Amino acid sequence: KPFMIKVPASSANIGPGFDSVGIALERYLTLTVTPGEDWEFKHRSPLLPEVPNHEEHFIFKIASKIAAKHGKELSSASISVDTEIPLARGMGSSASAIIAGIELANRLAELDLTAEQKLRHAVQIEGHPDNVAPALFGGFITAVQFEQELDYLILPELDVDLIVYIPDFELKTEDARRVLPDAYPRAVATRASAISSMMIAAFMKGDYNLAGRMMERDLFHETYRARLIPRYDEIKPEARELGAYATVISGAGPTTISFAPSGKGEEIARRMQSLLPDYEIAALRIDTEGLQVS
Ligand code: HSE
Repeated sequence: KPFMIKVPASSANIGPGFDSVGIALERYLTLTVTPGEDWEFKHRSPLLPEVPNHEEHFIFKIASKIAAKHGKELSSASISVDTEIPLARGMGSSASAIIAGIELANRLAELDLTAEQKLRHAVQIEGHPDNVAPALFGGFITAVQFEQELDYLILPELDVDLIVYIPDFELKTEDARRVLPDAYPRAVATRASAISSMMIAAFMKGDYNLAGRMMERDLFHETYRARLIPRYDEIKPEARELGAYATVISGAGPTTISFAPSGKGEEIARRMQSLLPDYEIAALRIDTEGLQVS
Protein backbone atom coordinates (compact mmCIF):
# COMPACT_ATOMS: atom_id res chain seq x y z
CA LYS A 1 0.00 0.00 0.00
CA PRO A 2 1.36 3.49 -0.83
CA PHE A 3 2.35 5.69 2.10
CA MET A 4 3.77 9.17 2.70
CA ILE A 5 6.80 10.29 4.67
CA LYS A 6 6.78 13.97 5.56
CA VAL A 7 9.73 15.71 7.27
CA PRO A 8 10.00 19.39 8.24
CA ALA A 9 12.78 21.86 7.45
CA SER A 10 14.83 23.11 10.38
CA SER A 11 16.97 25.99 11.50
CA ALA A 12 20.02 25.09 13.56
CA ASN A 13 22.12 27.06 16.06
CA ILE A 14 19.72 29.97 16.85
CA GLY A 15 22.90 32.00 17.37
CA PRO A 16 24.90 30.75 20.36
CA GLY A 17 23.35 27.26 20.41
CA PHE A 18 25.98 26.26 17.87
CA ASP A 19 25.69 22.57 16.88
CA SER A 20 23.27 21.87 19.75
CA VAL A 21 20.03 23.86 19.36
CA GLY A 22 17.51 23.82 16.52
CA ILE A 23 13.91 24.46 15.61
CA ALA A 24 11.60 22.77 13.09
CA LEU A 25 9.99 24.92 10.40
CA GLU A 26 6.66 24.53 8.61
CA ARG A 27 8.17 23.68 5.21
CA TYR A 28 8.34 20.07 4.19
CA LEU A 29 10.08 17.32 2.28
CA THR A 30 7.53 14.72 1.23
CA LEU A 31 8.07 11.23 -0.16
CA THR A 32 5.17 9.33 -1.66
CA VAL A 33 6.21 5.70 -1.58
CA THR A 34 4.56 2.98 -3.67
CA PRO A 35 6.06 -0.43 -2.99
CA GLY A 36 6.54 -2.34 -6.25
CA GLU A 37 8.79 -4.46 -8.46
CA ASP A 38 11.35 -1.85 -9.54
CA TRP A 39 13.15 1.05 -7.95
CA GLU A 40 12.24 4.46 -9.24
CA PHE A 41 12.68 8.02 -7.97
CA LYS A 42 10.71 10.91 -9.42
CA HIS A 43 11.29 14.56 -8.49
CA ARG A 44 8.25 16.81 -8.29
CA SER A 45 9.82 20.07 -7.15
CA PRO A 46 11.79 22.68 -9.13
CA LEU A 47 14.02 22.94 -6.03
CA LEU A 48 15.39 19.44 -6.68
CA PRO A 49 18.14 18.58 -9.17
CA GLU A 50 17.78 15.98 -11.91
CA VAL A 51 17.00 12.49 -10.71
CA PRO A 52 20.17 10.41 -10.53
CA ASN A 53 20.21 6.64 -11.00
CA HIS A 54 18.39 5.28 -7.95
CA GLU A 55 21.59 3.80 -6.52
CA GLU A 56 23.13 7.28 -6.54
CA HIS A 57 20.09 8.93 -4.98
CA PHE A 58 20.95 10.51 -1.61
CA ILE A 59 17.80 9.17 0.06
CA PHE A 60 18.30 5.68 -1.40
CA LYS A 61 21.92 5.60 -0.19
CA ILE A 62 20.86 6.56 3.35
CA ALA A 63 18.05 3.99 3.36
CA SER A 64 20.17 1.10 2.10
CA LYS A 65 22.99 1.92 4.53
CA ILE A 66 20.57 1.87 7.47
CA ALA A 67 18.93 -1.39 6.32
CA ALA A 68 22.38 -3.00 5.92
CA LYS A 69 23.38 -1.91 9.43
CA HIS A 70 20.47 -3.96 10.71
CA GLY A 71 21.35 -6.88 8.44
CA LYS A 72 18.26 -6.37 6.28
CA GLU A 73 17.50 -5.50 2.68
CA LEU A 74 15.18 -2.87 1.32
CA SER A 75 12.22 -4.04 -0.70
CA SER A 76 11.87 -1.95 -3.89
CA ALA A 77 9.52 0.98 -4.36
CA SER A 78 8.60 3.81 -6.66
CA ILE A 79 9.19 7.09 -4.82
CA SER A 80 7.97 10.51 -5.72
CA VAL A 81 9.93 13.27 -3.96
CA ASP A 82 8.53 16.74 -3.44
CA THR A 83 10.05 19.50 -1.37
CA GLU A 84 9.51 23.06 -0.20
CA ILE A 85 12.99 23.22 1.34
CA PRO A 86 15.64 24.86 -0.82
CA LEU A 87 18.97 22.95 -0.93
CA ALA A 88 22.20 24.16 0.69
CA ARG A 89 20.58 27.24 2.21
CA GLY A 90 20.82 26.52 5.94
CA MET A 91 17.25 25.25 6.23
CA GLY A 92 18.03 21.65 7.02
CA SER A 93 17.39 20.10 3.59
CA SER A 94 20.02 17.41 4.14
CA ALA A 95 18.77 16.64 7.65
CA SER A 96 15.23 16.20 6.34
CA ALA A 97 16.52 13.90 3.58
CA ILE A 98 18.48 11.87 6.15
CA ILE A 99 15.40 11.46 8.37
CA ALA A 100 13.32 10.56 5.29
CA GLY A 101 15.92 7.95 4.26
CA ILE A 102 16.00 6.42 7.73
CA GLU A 103 12.20 6.21 7.84
CA LEU A 104 12.16 4.73 4.34
CA ALA A 105 14.49 1.97 5.55
CA ASN A 106 12.39 1.56 8.65
CA ARG A 107 9.31 0.85 6.51
CA LEU A 108 10.77 -1.00 3.51
CA ALA A 109 13.06 -3.23 5.54
CA GLU A 110 10.67 -3.53 8.50
CA LEU A 111 13.25 -2.43 11.07
CA ASP A 112 10.82 -1.32 13.76
CA LEU A 113 13.19 1.45 14.89
CA THR A 114 12.51 3.48 18.02
CA ALA A 115 12.69 7.28 17.85
CA GLU A 116 15.92 7.10 19.83
CA GLN A 117 17.49 4.74 17.27
CA LYS A 118 16.39 6.96 14.38
CA LEU A 119 18.03 9.94 16.08
CA ARG A 120 21.26 8.03 16.71
CA HIS A 121 21.47 6.91 13.10
CA ALA A 122 20.79 10.46 11.91
CA VAL A 123 23.39 12.05 14.19
CA GLN A 124 25.95 9.51 13.09
CA ILE A 125 25.37 10.50 9.46
CA GLU A 126 25.07 14.27 9.96
CA GLY A 127 27.75 14.68 12.64
CA HIS A 128 25.71 17.01 14.87
CA PRO A 129 22.15 16.78 16.17
CA ASP A 130 20.87 20.35 15.76
CA ASN A 131 18.99 19.84 12.46
CA VAL A 132 18.14 16.14 12.59
CA ALA A 133 16.58 16.29 16.08
CA PRO A 134 13.98 18.97 15.20
CA ALA A 135 13.39 17.33 11.80
CA LEU A 136 12.55 14.12 13.65
CA PHE A 137 10.63 15.44 16.66
CA GLY A 138 9.43 18.92 15.60
CA GLY A 139 9.55 21.97 17.86
CA PHE A 140 12.45 23.62 19.61
CA ILE A 141 15.14 21.19 20.70
CA THR A 142 18.45 21.09 22.43
CA ALA A 143 20.59 18.01 21.94
CA VAL A 144 24.06 17.04 23.08
CA GLN A 145 26.25 14.15 22.10
CA PHE A 146 28.94 13.27 24.60
CA GLU A 147 30.99 10.21 23.73
CA GLN A 148 28.43 7.38 23.43
CA GLU A 149 25.62 9.29 25.09
CA LEU A 150 23.06 11.31 23.21
CA ASP A 151 20.70 13.48 25.23
CA TYR A 152 17.94 15.63 23.84
CA LEU A 153 15.15 17.76 25.23
CA ILE A 154 12.09 18.97 23.39
CA LEU A 155 11.63 22.41 24.94
CA PRO A 156 8.25 24.02 25.70
CA GLU A 157 6.63 25.62 22.66
CA LEU A 158 7.75 29.13 21.76
CA ASP A 159 5.18 31.82 21.13
CA VAL A 160 7.04 33.57 18.32
CA ASP A 161 6.82 34.15 14.58
CA LEU A 162 9.79 33.40 12.39
CA ILE A 163 10.89 35.22 9.27
CA VAL A 164 13.41 33.62 6.89
CA TYR A 165 15.52 35.56 4.38
CA ILE A 166 16.66 33.13 1.71
CA PRO A 167 19.28 34.45 -0.73
CA ASP A 168 19.53 33.14 -4.25
CA PHE A 169 22.73 31.13 -3.85
CA GLU A 170 23.91 27.95 -2.19
CA LEU A 171 26.47 27.70 0.60
CA LYS A 172 27.76 24.26 1.48
CA THR A 173 27.95 23.53 5.20
CA GLU A 174 31.53 22.26 4.87
CA ASP A 175 32.55 25.61 3.32
CA ALA A 176 30.80 27.55 6.07
CA ARG A 177 32.50 25.36 8.70
CA ARG A 178 35.91 25.95 7.17
CA VAL A 179 35.84 29.63 8.16
CA LEU A 180 35.48 28.74 11.86
CA PRO A 181 38.45 28.57 14.23
CA ASP A 182 39.66 25.13 15.31
CA ALA A 183 39.89 26.25 18.94
CA TYR A 184 38.62 29.09 21.11
CA PRO A 185 40.60 30.77 23.90
CA ARG A 186 39.17 29.95 27.32
CA ALA A 187 37.88 33.48 27.90
CA VAL A 188 35.92 33.31 24.64
CA ALA A 189 34.61 29.78 25.22
CA THR A 190 33.46 30.68 28.73
CA ARG A 191 31.59 33.75 27.58
CA ALA A 192 30.12 31.99 24.54
CA SER A 193 28.79 29.19 26.71
CA ALA A 194 27.35 31.64 29.26
CA ILE A 195 25.53 33.45 26.44
CA SER A 196 24.15 30.15 25.17
CA SER A 197 22.92 29.09 28.63
CA MET A 198 21.30 32.47 29.18
CA MET A 199 19.55 32.31 25.81
CA ILE A 200 17.93 28.96 26.60
CA ALA A 201 17.03 30.05 30.15
CA ALA A 202 15.45 33.26 28.83
CA PHE A 203 13.40 31.34 26.26
CA MET A 204 12.20 28.98 28.96
CA LYS A 205 11.17 31.91 31.13
CA GLY A 206 9.33 33.45 28.16
CA ASP A 207 11.63 36.50 28.25
CA TYR A 208 12.00 36.80 24.47
CA ASN A 209 13.68 40.22 24.62
CA LEU A 210 16.51 38.82 26.74
CA ALA A 211 16.67 35.66 24.62
CA GLY A 212 16.90 37.85 21.52
CA ARG A 213 19.77 39.87 22.96
CA MET A 214 21.64 36.65 23.70
CA MET A 215 20.89 35.26 20.22
CA GLU A 216 22.71 38.19 18.67
CA ARG A 217 25.75 37.87 20.95
CA ASP A 218 27.01 34.53 19.68
CA LEU A 219 30.79 34.08 19.74
CA PHE A 220 30.96 30.56 18.28
CA HIS A 221 30.18 31.14 14.62
CA GLU A 222 28.28 34.31 13.70
CA THR A 223 31.29 36.64 13.64
CA TYR A 224 33.17 34.39 11.22
CA ARG A 225 30.27 33.63 8.93
CA ALA A 226 28.59 37.05 8.72
CA ARG A 227 30.77 38.08 5.78
CA LEU A 228 29.55 35.10 3.75
CA ILE A 229 26.04 36.58 3.69
CA PRO A 230 25.37 39.64 1.54
CA ARG A 231 23.78 42.54 3.44
CA TYR A 232 23.58 40.59 6.71
CA ASP A 233 24.74 43.70 8.59
CA GLU A 234 21.67 45.52 7.22
CA ILE A 235 19.13 42.76 7.80
CA LYS A 236 19.76 42.60 11.56
CA PRO A 237 19.10 46.27 12.50
CA GLU A 238 16.27 46.64 9.96
CA ALA A 239 14.44 43.64 11.39
CA ARG A 240 14.97 44.91 14.92
CA GLU A 241 13.63 48.30 13.89
CA LEU A 242 10.47 46.54 12.67
CA GLY A 243 10.04 44.79 16.01
CA ALA A 244 11.97 41.50 15.69
CA TYR A 245 13.57 40.14 18.86
CA ALA A 246 16.68 39.02 17.01
CA THR A 247 18.10 37.89 13.69
CA VAL A 248 20.70 35.13 13.30
CA ILE A 249 22.22 32.94 10.62
CA SER A 250 20.04 29.89 10.00
CA GLY A 251 22.29 26.85 10.41
CA ALA A 252 25.46 27.38 8.42
CA GLY A 253 23.72 29.98 6.21
CA PRO A 254 23.25 31.60 3.79
CA THR A 255 19.63 31.98 4.99
CA THR A 256 19.11 34.23 7.99
CA ILE A 257 16.16 34.04 10.36
CA SER A 258 14.41 36.53 12.64
CA PHE A 259 12.42 35.70 15.74
CA ALA A 260 9.56 38.15 16.19
CA PRO A 261 6.57 38.67 18.47
CA SER A 262 3.71 36.36 17.63
CA GLY A 263 1.42 37.96 15.02
CA LYS A 264 4.08 40.28 13.61
CA GLY A 265 5.80 37.87 11.22
CA GLU A 266 3.78 38.58 8.07
CA GLU A 267 4.13 42.33 8.35
CA ILE A 268 7.86 42.21 9.04
CA ALA A 269 8.33 39.81 6.12
CA ARG A 270 6.42 42.13 3.79
CA ARG A 271 8.33 45.22 4.80
CA MET A 272 11.70 43.46 4.69
CA GLN A 273 10.88 42.15 1.19
CA SER A 274 10.68 45.69 -0.16
CA LEU A 275 14.12 46.43 1.31
CA LEU A 276 15.64 43.19 0.01
CA PRO A 277 14.05 42.42 -3.36
CA ASP A 278 16.79 39.86 -4.19
CA TYR A 279 15.85 37.66 -1.25
CA GLU A 280 12.97 35.23 -0.89
CA ILE A 281 11.44 36.34 2.39
CA ALA A 282 8.74 34.38 4.19
CA ALA A 283 7.02 34.35 7.56
CA LEU A 284 7.03 30.78 8.87
CA ARG A 285 5.62 29.01 11.86
CA ILE A 286 7.32 26.42 13.99
CA ASP A 287 6.50 22.83 13.05
CA THR A 288 5.58 20.85 16.15
CA GLU A 289 5.01 17.42 14.58
CA GLY A 290 8.39 16.44 13.17
CA LEU A 291 8.47 13.25 11.08
CA GLN A 292 5.01 12.11 10.00
CA VAL A 293 4.05 8.92 8.20
CA SER A 294 0.56 8.49 6.79
N1 HSE B 1 25.41 23.51 13.35
C1 HSE B 1 25.75 23.33 11.96
C2 HSE B 1 26.65 24.46 11.52
C3 HSE B 1 24.47 23.36 11.17
O1 HSE B 1 26.36 25.59 11.89
O2 HSE B 1 27.64 24.23 10.84
C4 HSE B 1 24.66 23.09 9.71
O3 HSE B 1 24.73 21.73 9.46
